[in-house]
Amino acid sequence: MIARMATNPLPQFPPGFLWGVSTSAHQIEGAAEERDPSVWDAFTAEPGRIKDGSTAEVACDHYHRYPEDVALLAGLGVDAYRFSVSWPRVNSPGGLDFYDRLVDELCAAGVRPVPTLFHWDLPLELDWLSRDTAARFADHAAVVAERLGDRVMKWITLNEPAEHTLLGHALGAHAPGRRLLFDALPVAHHQLLAHGLAVRALRAAGAGDIGIANSHGPTWAASRRAEDVEAADFYDVLLNRLFSDPLLLGRYPEGIGELLPGDVESDLKVIAEPMDWYGVNYYQPTKVGAPEGTEIEFSGLTLPADLPFSVRELEGYPVTDFGWPVVPEALTELLVGLRERYGDRLPPVVITENGCSYEGIDDQERIAFLDGHVRALHRALEQGVDVRGYFVWSLMDNFEWAEGYARRFGLVHVDYDTLERTPKASYAWLRDALRAQARR
Ligand code: BGC
Repeated sequence: MIARMATNPLPQFPPGFLWGVSTSAHQIEGAAEERDPSVWDAFTAEPGRIKDGSTAEVACDHYHRYPEDVALLAGLGVDAYRFSVSWPRVNSPGGLDFYDRLVDELCAAGVRPVPTLFHWDLPLELDWLSRDTAARFADHAAVVAERLGDRVMKWITLNEPAEHTLLGHALGAHAPGRRLLFDALPVAHHQLLAHGLAVRALRAAGAGDIGIANSHGPTWAASRRAEDVEAADFYDVLLNRLFSDPLLLGRYPEGIGELLPGDVESDLKVIAEPMDWYGVNYYQPTKVGAPEGTEIEFSGLTLPADLPFSVRELEGYPVTDFGWPVVPEALTELLVGLRERYGDRLPPVVITENGCSYEGIDDQERIAFLDGHVRALHRALEQGVDVRGYFVWSLMDNFEWAEGYARRFGLVHVDYDTLERTPKASYAWLRDALRAQARR
């Protein structure tokens, strides 16, 4: 048994605060031959796309081992489990049966199901550059709601449309591997439209408690010089406001709407369909300055030299094994900032992802990371932000997209040769912290 780092008790969260963990279908399920292909299968098959040359064909084999994984969730004592429903699997014979079984197993274990309807594994025949994909997504949402709606606690339409646009279509580091730079903007718009149409389709199918999981991170200007501040503002628009403004204010940041195809004004009415809650995935803040005219290596990406900003190294903070700075206080800043920007238009917030990649089973760094971030979250609550839940990314180590299996984000270690699951020190820490919350 691993020794647990002694941390002070966490502050008490309000009754009913939702504690959970997150995963996504493509990253854990495996059983690729039992579903239709997705853009990620095609991308992974291209030589050189995945750093360690691995594939997600087996991943954690969660598809076959889900009862063991649900038992791990129950042992952890979380209230809820955020997973994603693979759209290509739903399209395959028997695919929905799997999610039906999973949801039943979760309910039997007292863990509330929180499905995400799209976490990047688009059916291979579809394309977000096509507007029609938005309507197809609403159909997908209705099909899933019809089948699982009687047992689902909360619904999430999309996961991180910002990253899917940026990494998948602008920079080509994720599936489908396009490098369209600013011509990727329609991909953002079509996903947002898909979200709005899905909110309506879910409600029409009798489903409620609907949100989205949007990535957010504070952008810090490299200096107070006007050119740095302007560049940071531009970056902030691309990564944050391009998505949250249309959803919460019903308008695009200045200058964006003109670049988009179609009747943007009427689409915005659909996009801004009110949500019941707003999901935030937070990992790190970013320091941004004026362009430096050189290519930049950032988080495993090569950013082109001709962008109107440059991403700078954030010095003075510990970093995870992925090289991401650990800045818990930026979570407080982010949440307070969202409340200031959106006011009453911001529905109750749920942190739908927060976590870190570290090697090892005795993962004291992960404990320190989670401890720091949960406290930072509590400070946001104290400052009046209505936060209703916190989900750790991730239940277990998994296929970390272009990084393959090299990054381990799990509370549970997975041995990829034997598929054996071993709870890490952080699993025990979270379990005990949740028990302490429940006791007080
Ligand atoms: C994604 C996850 C991913 C995690 C860590 C988020 O952007 O939603 O799928 O594994 O970050 O990179």
